[in-house]
This record gives sequence, structure tokens and C-alpha cells, in this order.
Amino acid sequence: MCGIFGCVLHDGSQAALLIHSALKRLEYRGYDSVGQVTVDGERLTVKKDAGRLEEVDAKYHLDDMPGPVGVGHTRWATHGRPAHENSHPHVDCKNRIAVVHNGIIENYLDLKRELEAKGHDFLSRTDTEVVPHLVEEYVSQGMGLEEAFRKTVNRLEGAYSIVLTSVERPKMILCARQESPLVLGLGDGEYYCASDFSAFLPLTKKALILDEGEMAVLDPNGVRILKLKNAAPVKRDPITIAWDPESAKKQGFRHFMLKEIHEQAQSTRDALRSQEIYYDLVASKILSAGNVFIVACGTSYHSGLVGSLALAKLAGINARVVIASEFSDEALDLTTPKTVILAISQSGETMDTLNAVRDAKSKGASILSIVNVLGSTLMRLSDVYIGQNAGPEIGVASTKAFTSQVAILLRLAANIARKKGEVSTKEIGELEDALHKTPIIIQNIINTKLGEIKRIAEDCSNASSICFLGRGVNVPTALEGRLKLLELSYIPAIAYPAGESKHGFIALIEEGFPVIFVAPKDDNHRRLIGNIMEMKARGARIISVIEEGDEEIRSLSDQTIEIPESLPALVTPLVYVVPLQLLAYYLSIIKGHDPDYPRNLAKSVTVE
Ligand code: F6R
Repeated sequence: MCGIFGCVLHDGSQAALLIHSALKRLEYRGYDSVGQVTVDGERLTVKKDAGRLEEVDAKYHLDDMPGPVGVGHTRWATHGRPAHENSHPHVDCKNRIAVVHNGIIENYLDLKRELEAKGHDFLSRTDTEVVPHLVEEYVSQGMGLEEAFRKTVNRLEGAYSIVLTSVERPKMILCARQESPLVLGLGDGEYYCASDFSAFLPLTKKALILDEGEMAVLDPNGVRILKLKNAAPVKRDPITIAWDPESAKKQGFRHFMLKEIHEQAQSTRDALRSQEIYYDLVASKILSAGNVFIVACGTSYHSGLVGSLALAKLAGINARVVIASEFSDEALDLTTPKTVILAISQSGETMDTLNAVRDAKSKGASILSIVNVLGSTLMRLSDVYIGQNAGPEIGVASTKAFTSQVAILLRLAANIARKKGEVSTKEIGELEDALHKTPIIIQNIINTKLGEIKRIAEDCSNASSICFLGRGVNVPTALEGRLKLLELSYIPAIAYPAGESKHGFIALIEEGFPVIFVAPKDDNHRRLIGNIMEMKARGARIISVIEEGDEEIRSLSDQTIEIPESLPALVTPLVYVVPLQLLAYYLSIIKGHDPDYPRNLAKSVTVE
């Protein structure tokens, strides 16, 4: 998730000033690198570097760039660590075409090889750099810039919003989108494109939405929208944006947390886009390890629990999950140069996780990681890492980071299982297919279940405690539901393996005590029904997250949330956690708290 802003201004105006202030408004979308390009007739000026906007500005004076046309970019790294050469804009060989991009181009390696064979020189490790070179290639074949851009974009696979400027057509900006957002602003004879409305709201409230598979041409005559497929013109009426700049950042959602819950269909899709080569590297380290520890804190620890179970069940790998702050007591004595540590962290800066990693490293262990913030300390300490591609997570309570970690861990377990050949390829294939279906299911839950979840939140709002129970791979889902609920609503919450609940917790049950069961129709279904009956017999109010059409559990429950698809058991946490995140969010609102900033918590815990 990066931030993009482009503008075509009146002759004599300076685009750089507007770009700089728009990037300030977009910094929340990414902040590891910044860059701007302006076009002034035959002159293309690029300034860019790794660092936050004010650091890059102090070094390069971003306002000091000539020309009325230009584009800016604030980056959240996916391909290539934050560095000068990986910052956007990227240019072609002759420095005549500049491109910024938000998203992931899945087939960039193939395109890069093709272009290198034709003599194009690449300077970065990004996926984006193929775009200016491919446009350059088509222009050199005699194509006009607009057609070369359209042809290039039609060859890209993955998710993108792309904006191009060039001295070939100095008064023009070309842009296109697929999955990643891009909106257009209509000023008074001046035109803008941006990742979201917040970038241009102080300049205009009149906007056009660019749909999937469309491109737009911005020049002093106005904005034209075309179909990418066949260049057919699209007629679209402008809309007026009523949001204030702050809600525009949240895309109209009341809180970042709610926005991030809604983003999970896309962030899961993006998490699954990483190249197979990273998985192969991680897999080969795990396969040759003497012992494996998964190390993490909080929500990332819960995704580690899902990963450990998936590695055991699918690939026969024993990867013990250790809470990072306990690592030196529990696992350091067992750490040798043959140990592999798989550290999981959204921020990559959690002190407990870093301490465990450093301790293990000092004993010669190999460090693998799953990390969302590229360029973070954890990424730099790692021998191999897989980027989560979830984009910045601003809400303190982690949501989309969890689902993207689980998606990656399941894909990793499937990769290792395939290499080991212990599970049938049919079973692995089914799991991978289900994994790729999860974004649609998550979207469906968000589209259809909010009313029910809000009602359950209201009914639970006076509870003095709430319990979450699950079995197998959904013990971590229950733990994560509990963590979200207690940190946001401040209601003391409990989570247990459902089978363990009768060994103590059941003493708490009295009339109306809410017990939330994570209850997909998997091999544990029958035993879970037994646990539901035990709770029900003692007066508990049963709330169950079930597979649609599960009449048995529905008839035992006071309230249900139904997941509209049958999934392999291992994939269920990725989907069943979403209603639990929403429940915690709504309870926080009902209780009058701010879900984005729960008391006493910090987004990144950099103390021991
Ligand atoms: C809970 C939450 C925390 C983090 C934990 C680890 O909602 O956000 O429990 O999961 O502090 O953070 P990372 O993943 O950044 O290491």
C-alpha cells in the first residue's frame, strides 16, 4: 500500500509544491521512501530516496523542482528494501519516462528478463521498474505514448495503480488501475490523480472514480477515461466528496481498525502474491534444520500457533511456538547452529521478538521471518524473509496483519508438504485452492454479517466476562478473539481449548455467561458439540461461529454467525477470525472507547 498523487496544472504553476503537500496527507499509506518527478517541457526532474517525507525533503528540497506537471509517491516496500534505487519514480533507460506504482506486479520477473534481453538496464529490485522500460520499448517501435502505456498495462498481472509522466507528452499524465485504488480530481482547469481523496480534498471536492480495468488521460483539456482492453471511451459523471480530510484518510470508515478489517480481502490476496522463490528458500532452511522455533508476541504469536499446527499436520514438521519474551528461558538452551528461528512480526520492531532473534543468532541459529514492515530491524536481522504485503496497519489492534500472516504460513506449510511428498498433492491442491478463495469469503462476511455481529455485541455489552472456545487449529482463533475483545472493550475475557474448559473454567459458568464457540464443520465437530452441551447445561449463553447450514450447532446456540462456505479445517482461522475482530470493534464502540488507540497499548512495543 503506497500513496500516489499526480497533477496537471496551469502553465507557469509549480507541480512540486502541490505534490509535496499531497504526499504529507498520504504518508499514512506508506512511509519508508519518498519520491517526486516533474516535467517541464523537455526536462524531467526526479528526486527520491529512502526515509520519511521530511527527511527526504531536508536532503533534496522537494519544492525546488520545475514544471506544471508531476507525480509523487510515498512507499510501503513490497519488492526491494527501502533504498534510494528502489524508491519511486522509476525511469526508462533514457530518463524520458517516469512511473510510480502501488500494488504488486506478479509477472515482473518474466517481463524483466524479456526487457533485459532487449538491452534495457535495470537499476532497482522492484517490480515497478519493468513499466517505464516496457513503455519505452513500445515507443521505440513507433507507438504513441498513450497506446504504448495501454499496451504495457495490458501485459501486467497482479494489482496495480500506475501513474506515468514523460517528456514525450510533457503536459500529460497517464494512469491505470487494477485492484489497487486510484481516484481523479477535477479542479478549475487543473487535474489530479491520487490513491485516495484525502490527497486532493483541499484542492477540489469534484472527483471521478476510475474503475477496474480502466485508464485515464489527464491533460490541460481535461480528463478522459478509456477501457484498457480496447481503448473505448468511458463516460462517467463526477461526484462531489462530502468527507473531511480526516475521514478521507479512513476512506469514510469511522476508525482505521474498521477500515483495516474491511481491507482484509485485499490484504490476504496481496499476502499470497509473493513469489514462490521466497517460500522455496524458507522451506529449504526449515527442511534441513535440526530444530525449529516459531517466535512472536501477541497476535503474531497466535498466527504462529496456526502455522505450527499446519506445519505439523501437512508437512510433519515439529516447529515449537515460543512467546518471544520467554525464549531465553524456554528455548535458548536448545538453540544451536542447526536451529532455525521463524520470527513473525507485523512491525519488525517488537523488542521481545528482536531480543529472542539476537540471542538465537548469537548461538549461530538461522533467522527466517514473516514481517510486514520491510526495512525493519527484524527484516535486516533475517537470513530470509517473506513480506506480508499488508500495507501499513495503523489501528493499534492488529487485524489484517494476522490474516496475512496466517495466509503466508499456510502457503509455506503447503510448499514444504509438497517438497516432502507425505501428503497427497490432491489434498495440498485443495488447501491452496481454498486459500485463494478466502478473500471472497472474507468480503462476503463483511458485506452480509455486520448487522448480526452488532446485535451480538449489544447483547454482550453488559457481560462481566466473555469466554472463547475452539479446538485444534481454532484454539489460536479463540485466543485471538479473546485478545481483540479484551484489549478493545476492556471486558476480562478468557480463551481455552474447548476440551480443556471442563478442567476448571467451567466453574465460572452461570446463567447467561456468554461463551463464544469457533465451530467449523471439521473433524472436531462432534466433540465440540459435546463441549457446547456441557456449557449450555450450566446456563451459558452460546454464541457460535459456524459453517452455513450447520443445523446441529445452530439449534444448540442462542446466536450464530454463519460462514458462507465449507473450507479445509486448516484454512478456517483465516476466515473465522473476522467476525471476532468485528465483535471486538463493535463492543469497543458500544462501551465508548476508541478502538484505534486502546489505553496503555502501543502499536509497536519497543521495550522489554
Ligand atoms: C494485538 C497486537 C499485539 C501485537 C504484538 C506483536 O492486537 O497488536 O499483540 O500483535 O505487540 O507485534 P508485532 O507483530 O509488530 O511484533
